[in-house]
Amino acid sequence: MRILSHLFENNKRWAASIHEKDPTFFERLSQQQNPEYLWIGCSDSRVPANQIVGLLPGDIFVHRNVANLVVYDDLNCQSVLQYGVEALKVRHIIVCGHYGCGGVQAALSPTSLGRLDNWLRYIKDVHSLHRGYLNALQDPVEIHNALCELNIIEQARNVCQNKIVEDAWAREQAIDVHAWIYSIQDGILRDLGFTVTSRSEVQPLYTQAIESFIKKPPHR
Ligand code: CO
Repeated sequence: MRILSHLFENNKRWAASIHEKDPTFFERLSQQQNPEYLWIGCSDSRVPANQIVGLLPGDIFVHRNVANLVVYDDLNCQSVLQYGVEALKVRHIIVCGHYGCGGVQAALSPTSLGRLDNWLRYIKDVHSLHRGYLNALQDPVEIHNALCELNIIEQARNVCQNKIVEDAWAREQAIDVHAWIYSIQDGILRDLGFTVTSRSEVQPLYTQAIESFIKKPPHR
């Protein structure tokens, strides 16, 4: 008997259903990929990029890690970013996090998780950066939600301030960077109001996003 045979059976059914709707789908895709979107999301099993936005294989180039972090010396993320921007020429880069993020929750907890602590450090840095606002909040759920949102805005800013994206904008390659949050409770995506289309917009739009966030948090 084949190991995990139910997954192979699922796969056969899935491939057949796609083929039934569009007999040349796989043949076309096998020639090349030409995705319009680069998705940087959390590894959480409840936040699958393609399904959430109803897109097919070939539509989204995807990078996922714990808590959707964009870290300058992360070879993996930087390679995806470079290939997405320079080779695939994606039109949009979406940083999408989610409420109920285990990585964000762990960063708020004093308990050590071993090696993962090094990765969570980046979320703790976001917390430090916005501690004035976060420390004024009382409700732990509110703090969690706010840190999830702020983390996404910070990671989207990291995309904007990345050399790969800066160089693309400098040669007038059109790229829009977006900051989105997904609710695992109702399956709904929300735009966090930080959408950047050029280098000169980064700082003013970041300041505006953070100021309006603090005045009127999007989740409340
Ligand atoms: Co998560």
